[in-house]
Amino acid sequence: MTRGSISSAFLDELRAKNDIVDIASKYITLKRRGNSFWACCPFHNEKTPSFSIRQDGQFFKCFGCGESGDVITLIMKLENVDFLTAVEMLCKNAGIEMPTMAENDEMQRKKKQRDIAYQILKATTEFYHKNLIGAPSSQQAQYLQSRKINSEMIEKFQIGASLNYDDLPKYLLSLSFNPQDMINAGVVGKNERGGLYDFYGTRLIFPIFNGFGDVVAYSGRSVSEAPDHTKYKNTPQTIVFNKSEILFAYNFVRDLKKSHMLDTIIIVEGHIDVIACHQAGLTNTIGCMGTALTVQHAKKIKQLVDNVILCLDADNAGRLATYKAIDILKEEGLNVKVVRLDVNKAKDPDEYLKKYGKDNFMDMLSHAQDCVDFVLSDSAKKYDFNSNADKNKYIQEALNYISKFSSPAEQEIYLNYVQQLVRIPLDVLRQSMTKKETKKVDTRHDEKISETVNNKYIIDSKIMLLAAILYKKITNFDEISGIFSPDDELDELSDLYRFLRQKVEEKTDFNISTLFDNFEINDKSMIDRVINYNFPDDAVFETMIADTIKRVKLYMLQEEKEKYRNLLIKSETDDERLNYLVKIKELTDKINKEKQ
Ligand code: CTP
Ligand code: MN
Repeated sequence: MTRGSISSAFLDELRAKNDIVDIASKYITLKRRGNSFWACCPFHNEKTPSFSIRQDGQFFKCFGCGESGDVITLIMKLENVDFLTAVEMLCKNAGIEMPTMAENDEMQRKKKQRDIAYQILKATTEFYHKNLIGAPSSQQAQYLQSRKINSEMIEKFQIGASLNYDDLPKYLLSLSFNPQDMINAGVVGKNERGGLYDFYGTRLIFPIFNGFGDVVAYSGRSVSEAPDHTKYKNTPQTIVFNKSEILFAYNFVRDLKKSHMLDTIIIVEGHIDVIACHQAGLTNTIGCMGTALTVQHAKKIKQLVDNVILCLDADNAGRLATYKAIDILKEEGLNVKVVRLDVNKAKDPDEYLKKYGKDNFMDMLSHAQDCVDFVLSDSAKKYDFNSNADKNKYIQEALNYISKFSSPAEQEIYLNYVQQLVRIPLDVLRQSMTKKETKKVDTRHDEKISETVNNKYIIDSKIMLLAAILYKKITNFDEISGIFSPDDELDELSDLYRFLRQKVEEKTDFNISTLFDNFEINDKSMIDRVINYNFPDDAVFETMIADTIKRVKLYMLQEEKEKYRNLLIKSETDDERLNYLVKIKELTDKINKEKQ
């Protein structure tokens, strides 16, 4: 059960009956300062308080480590418990009953659907597995044998076989599953004539597990030479499967974390690579299943370890995927190392293990290269250092990359590395880099940048206005209508605007803590800036609001006028031109009126 499975009305009641200041003071010593309470943060080490609680908004925020949330999150973190347990504890504290699932029909329906999907997937996995074990001379079983996968791995990974297109739907019908549920689970498809067929018909089946070891999807590998057969057929997005969150074998590595000290995770591309690594005893290997690693993947990895080794395929696609993965993993604070296989020796870890054995593979892993060293040395390969022009191009590229690191110590380490490659005195490199940085500042004057400066002004203004609504300093939405466009769907701030507006229109009293149920709030989100907006004193603020509204409206009108001016230049017929001229005139009038 997650946050979403309890109604937000109940959560509001729960929060109203558990004052965050009361609760927090059971754990930490709070000091009042102005509108807030302060303490040393319980979630990171510090000597001066940067952990603050707002009683009016019923939320906490640490300005040191960035943790923030409502009273429920606070309990989850302080007691190290999951959401449901935290809710239970707060119910007990307030003397109220835990809600039953019946409270929320929609959630209950979804949960039921998920339960059925899991049951279907479980039955299907057993069915495929039995097929494989029972048909040792089948093409699927023969293929596995040719790839030297042993029976221990077949059991561990619950590998299976689909022998035809009909047996699976028949079997699932015999267990009284409903066809639509089978389709929803991603195991069965419907043909034009309405007949059901096995979605992975005739393929070798690799089940994909979630973190708890439940099967949520499959990859079906073709074992036939048929030209219309793609190598893999994968489960699309379903009610229980989200590709961008699942990593192959993550469940096994997670179990490892419970029993041993897990220090490093090895990331490979293919299913067979993962299985071959596990078979060789490298049970800390996971697979990205040929897709680009996502931020969610990286976060899941970071929950288990601080160190990863990337060992993707030897081809160019694997090389490019390595670059992308480095950026994403590094961004999550992981230490990333890289092993690049020599394409002439082996195309992937599985082939390497077969040809050169486990010891050589382990040896290669233990000499994995630091990821930045990898980027710097790999990108050097494009250039011929005997040509001065090429060498110079490389230096520019390398310095550009290094200048993005925020830590001077890190920059220094990698400058040294480049120095060894290009053999140019370190001082010269350092100077070139400083020049590059000043150059970056110079370009701020061009038009593009001034556009982003304007955008920044608009964003800052929107943040201020939303904070004013949130803290009930503005109650009249008419004043600001038009500033938040209803079709800016992807814009976090417009989402927040719509949310707040709805609450106000419904006349429901809301607390800032409610936002934590409805939005992803972290250091990087704009909403975080809204919540933490520092208001100047009231008199100044009132004129500021009026002024801001005026300036933002003016800016938006000018933008629109500019748009029509551009259209006018490009217009081809007199009709079009006339149309645009009228628009421009209208906008000019509006602008003049706004300026008065
Ligand atoms: N993949 C996929 N769809 C494809 C090709 C690949 O989903 N058409 C994914 C699979 O998860 C696969 C991984 O990308 O395991 C790596 O691809 P590839 O190297 O082509 O497959 P392998 O499983 O490694 O098979 P082989 O060792 O025979 O190359
Ligand atoms: Mn492969």
